[in-house]
Amino acid sequence: MCGIVGYAGPNDTVGALLDGLRRLEYRGYDSAGVAVLDAAGAVSVRKRSGKLARLEELLEASPLSATGTGIGHTRWATHGGPTDVNAHPHLGDDGKLALIHNGIVENFAELREDVAAAGIELLSETDTEVVAALLGIEVARTGDLETAFRAVVRRLEGTFTLLAMHRDEPGKVVAARHHSPLVIGLGEGENFLGSDVAAFVSSTRRAVAVAEDNIAIITPDAVRITDFAGDAVEFEEFEVQWDAEAADKGGWSSFMAKEINEQPDAVANTIRGRLDGGRVDIPELTELGDDVLRDVDRIIIIACGTASYAGQVGAYAIEQWARVPVEVQLSHEFRYRDPVLSDRTLIISVSQSGETMDTLMAVKYAIERGVTTISVCNTQSATIPRESDAAVYTHAGPEVAVASTKAFIAQITALYLIGLHLGRVRGTLSEEDSAEAVAQFEALPEKVREAVDTHEQVAQLAHWMADTRSVLFLGRHVGFPIALEGALKLKEIAYIHAEGFAAGELKHGPIALIDHGQPVFVLVPSPRTSPLMHSKVVSNIQEIRARGARVIAVVEKGDTAVLPYADDVIRIPLSDSLFDPLLQVVPLQWFALELSTAKGLDVDQPRNLAKSVTVE
Ligand code: AGP
Repeated sequence: MCGIVGYAGPNDTVGALLDGLRRLEYRGYDSAGVAVLDAAGAVSVRKRSGKLARLEELLEASPLSATGTGIGHTRWATHGGPTDVNAHPHLGDDGKLALIHNGIVENFAELREDVAAAGIELLSETDTEVVAALLGIEVARTGDLETAFRAVVRRLEGTFTLLAMHRDEPGKVVAARHHSPLVIGLGEGENFLGSDVAAFVSSTRRAVAVAEDNIAIITPDAVRITDFAGDAVEFEEFEVQWDAEAADKGGWSSFMAKEINEQPDAVANTIRGRLDGGRVDIPELTELGDDVLRDVDRIIIIACGTASYAGQVGAYAIEQWARVPVEVQLSHEFRYRDPVLSDRTLIISVSQSGETMDTLMAVKYAIERGVTTISVCNTQSATIPRESDAAVYTHAGPEVAVASTKAFIAQITALYLIGLHLGRVRGTLSEEDSAEAVAQFEALPEKVREAVDTHEQVAQLAHWMADTRSVLFLGRHVGFPIALEGALKLKEIAYIHAEGFAAGELKHGPIALIDHGQPVFVLVPSPRTSPLMHSKVVSNIQEIRARGARVIAVVEKGDTAVLPYADDVIRIPLSDSLFDPLLQVVPLQWFALELSTAKGLDVDQPRNLAKSVTVE
């Protein structure tokens, strides 16, 4: 949550900050602000509540004359509401320094007493202003920004990425990270800081991931990293694997629409290099050692939100192919239940951003207990894959819309690949089944493309249903997590009450919700590959139809059994049952997007949310 950008260089400072903030706005959009050293050598700030566009208006009305040092922030409010005053940057040292923050300072009440004792009056309700004030006190005492910064960050508890600049040290931005993301962009005669590489990818693809509890100091010509004690830390640079265009909206109406359309590529790119003849081979897992994988007697998948639903789908496939019990736990519940772990447990975390604090903390908890950890992640060099024993990257490309779509499909793909790799290594997967799964994978991108083509039909449906106040989703087996995902998408971007249920659970309570006209999406298993489940779901459809439900059935092409009972039928291509979720979810994504659009809402930036949840 919150996007941060820092710039040191000779080029258009405000332009660099705004470009970074535009690309990071998905991380939070309650308010935005920038601070620069102006032509008179003073720290100048512009900040405003609301989305970045409001800050841009302000900057147009009241431009800044920047001289090459600046920091920028887009906020997801924690301490203090989304007001102009609470917006970052905050000032210290009588306005000589500016500071921005991503995270939460938990001991801010105690620190505030020190600030009050120094006679400093705070203007905002934020924890961040307390840190800016403390930094000001330290700079006044030591006369040196870096020394002061180190002293302050050592006192902070909680989570933070902090960026600061001072009038007396032009050309320098200092940054610290503790449980919050921070990367450096290495330019030619200019350097950048950001919450992720999107902050500077339009200027440079050379990046450095700053490690936990480190401080980065950038100037136009140099980058240094130290630990909190001030000792130098060596670092390695990496090349960002995508360019600025990949994170642009292009001609699409929204990032979400663009990303739904990119799903065939997300699948194809995630598979690429991992299919070897009729078998799956993931080099990153081979490096982990076959003995380790053979020894595993239990797998726990940890994730939040959409990623946890991908985990639930993946669990069915991994159990089937690798014959090892798999459970899925929400990251934020995992460590508080005192989980039973052993050296034969394998933790697989799933996270698009690789920075979700709940998941990161759960992974750290497992690592501290000596458990092997694999990260399924979409973001190169993010914290979770770096902390884990192995990283299996999804190659969906940058996902900007808050509502996850292509990352979800890529996560399921990666989990399936892991299941097939494990099955092979553990000897639980026959060559025939392996070859069949590989054939399914090879055909998958094209089938996903066909599922994407349901757009027009689904859009019409959504526009007819624009006044709908509640939608239910039913699924069985791998269709159950898809029902949960369909409901989450709708809540998230269309602000509609939506629930997903296991179809078999209906008569244990939820069927009481069915009233005349209640829309229910039903994910119907294939009659060819899952005849038993298919007939049970058709019975469920009859039960809800008899009680007045409006049934929208998602069926495979050629399935006519539901026609007499469904009000609408959405057809997806034929595949093996385990692969159906990757196709069924697509019309549900379109439905959420189109209903949100029909209601005139912001599809990409839904209220109260942020893409990357970096606070617990
Ligand atoms: C998905 O639409 C949501 N925005 C959300 O549930 C998300 O999947 C969750 O917060 C996990 O994020 P991560 O994959 O980056 O860890």
